[in-house]
Amino acid sequence: MLTTAKVALVLMALLVPVAKFLGVLEPEGEPQYTSDGQMKFPEHYREWVYLSSGFDMSYSSEGSGMADHHMFDNTFVNPEAYKVFVATGHWPDKTVIVLESRMAKGRGSINQKGNYQDEQIMGVSIHVRDDARFPGKWAFFGFDGGQTGKMIPTTATCYSCHQDHGAVDSTFVQFYPTLLPIAKAKETLAARYLKEIMAPEEKEPL
Ligand code: HEC
Repeated sequence: MLTTAKVALVLMALLVPVAKFLGVLEPEGEPQYTSDGQMKFPEHYREWVYLSSGFDMSYSSEGSGMADHHMFDNTFVNPEAYKVFVATGHWPDKTVIVLESRMAKGRGSINQKGNYQDEQIMGVSIHVRDDARFPGKWAFFGFDGGQTGKMIPTTATCYSCHQDHGAVDSTFVQFYPTLLPIAKAKETLAARYLKEIMAPEEKEPL
């Protein structure tokens, strides 16, 4: 006769591989790398937590930037990191934030005004926190349709702009409307960011 313990063991033996296969046991958002230091594309990022979308965002005030087309960008974060942010107002180790750019479309189907997002992805970049791996804790990777992406060198302006202007931990939480109130409540907004949004006369001269 089978004891309860034996039944439990048999069930575990059967269920663990199934759970692993379904990705239930392993945190899906953990960053993965190839032996030559590239990051593996997190193919299920569309099942992660949606942060926000930008429309035609540009970092320079001159010109329209996009003469003949509009662009959307969408950001997603791995659920494990999102939960920690909600609890603490900071991003934990192994945070992966995906920025996906898509072409905007105007007229199509029944749409007459405004814009919607095209199927075509124009590019994906990732901001990842991995303390053991990167001396500055965070790194950027660029993907152009492949299964792996190269790390962007730390001398690139990506790092300085994010460091100087990102509201929390070098990420642009000021543009993620559900996260900004959390950062305010937990008082985790970066000092530089707080200075930046103060009235110009209160700012120290550059
Ligand atoms: C001049 C400032 C600036 C520079 C330079 C810049 N970014 Fe950003 N980045 C932003 C802003 C603003 C956002 C918020 C975008 C949004 O809300 O859609 C952002 C968001 C992101 C995100 C989403 C995660 C986060 O940190 O908030 C990624 C990934 C990203 N940028 C990658 C890059 C990469 C890769 C480069 C360099 C090739 C780069 N950025 C250069 C301003 C910058």
